[in-house]
Amino acid sequence: MTSTPTSPIDQQRKLVTAVPGPRSQELHARKAAAVSSGVGVGLPAYVERAGGGILVDVDGNHLIDFGSGIAVTTVGNSAPAVVAGVQEQAADFTHTCFMVTPYEEYVAVCEQLADLTPGDHEKRSALFNSGAEAVENAVKVARTFTGRDAVVAFEHGYHGRTNLTMGLTAKSMPYKHGFGPFAPEIYRAPMAYPLRWPGGADRCADEAFRAFVDMVHTQVGETNTAAVIIEPIQGEGGFVVPPPGWLSKVADFCTEHGIVLIADEIQTGFCRTGDWFACDHEGVVPDLITTAKGIAGGLPLAGVTGRAEMMDSVHASGLGGTYGGNPVACAAALGAIRTMREQDLCARAKEVESIFLSRLDQLRAKYDVIADVRGRGAMLAVELTAGAGDLTPNAALTGAVNKLCHEQGLVTLTCGTFGNVFRFLPPLSSPDHLLEEGLDIFEDAFARATAS
Ligand SMILES: Cc1ncc(COP(=O)(O)O)c(C=O)c1O
Repeated sequence: MTSTPTSPIDQQRKLVTAVPGPRSQELHARKAAAVSSGVGVGLPAYVERAGGGILVDVDGNHLIDFGSGIAVTTVGNSAPAVVAGVQEQAADFTHTCFMVTPYEEYVAVCEQLADLTPGDHEKRSALFNSGAEAVENAVKVARTFTGRDAVVAFEHGYHGRTNLTMGLTAKSMPYKHGFGPFAPEIYRAPMAYPLRWPGGADRCADEAFRAFVDMVHTQVGETNTAAVIIEPIQGEGGFVVPPPGWLSKVADFCTEHGIVLIADEIQTGFCRTGDWFACDHEGVVPDLITTAKGIAGGLPLAGVTGRAEMMDSVHASGLGGTYGGNPVACAAALGAIRTMREQDLCARAKEVESIFLSRLDQLRAKYDVIADVRGRGAMLAVELTAGAGDLTPNAALTGAVNKLCHEQGLVTLTCGTFGNVFRFLPPLSSPDHLLEEGLDIFEDAFARATAS
């Protein structure tokens, strides 16, 4: 399959001013006076229009998008089916609150979630506004179903910024610093992180699993553990891909001990990794799965989907919220999901993977500061270190490359507990030539940053 641009926006990078340009800078000055400085901005180029693989800023620059608004616009910005769904639904009605007077779109999204998520058991879903809210509700379901309190999360994990999800999130700065106290009964197990596993990548799967089991047994107690929450590929923590076999061992352990396995697929879900969900890659069937981001092409929508007996264990009206499953967001999701099916975006993600990996592997052979190239589908990353086998994280180089990419009109993102991971999350609507050109810019930025 080759990419089929579906946007009226010219799919060419074009720089007519410095990035950010003068109009963006004006807006940024207004931002400083009106918006809390606690809300950070990665690249202050203010966007006016976007589509395909391009963001157009207020100065008329056409920027190549390698971020998808943090893995959200998987189907592309303003994808036609999303726009049509939103327009029709907004004209029909914008809100009733599903808990007051329901509507078909909510039910239809839950039917899609039952069909697409891993496993062919009977499922139920509930819809929310954000990923963090979905994670909070997944924990509520797990606690009600099991009658237990404890939740086990992993080092480098990221699950959101609300109070419970801050507690589940591993990294202190900027997500948690100064915002405590955090919710109790959260425990953290070592993550199977092959590059940084003390015993080496080959022993990572077995040893990390052993460490997890020991931790649950000695510090929490299996019968006190309501849920284990896992990102099958970690997102904000550094695109950490656990070694094959580890996830299914954790899943089996949960089943054995009546612990609810929650797969947080908020970043990995909906074709991003080349499968509908990252769990599919290893045939792992979680009990509950949280989704958001890519589900609705940019509209705020999130879901918890899971085994019917778990989801239905909650008392009536125990789950919900004023806006959860808003009809316009649901219509957007139905358009996004239809687009993913019709355009086979899982296959497109695999094509994106091969374009990126062939270039990134070559770059790794050239620069020993690239300690790892990893990821799946259109969720890929390089981890930068001191080089020559020294794994000291190189956040300074990561930041320098990122800045040079931005100046050249390539919207890139970094991540990782140590701030030393460069991640690639292009929309699956990006034509190949933009992916290649973005990689040219990245390579050039890399050459310049390492030369200085
Ligand atoms: C794996 C994962 N879980 C949860 C969240 C939180 O989602 P939101 O920002 O929509 O609350 C994110 C966001 O990046 C995420 O990547």
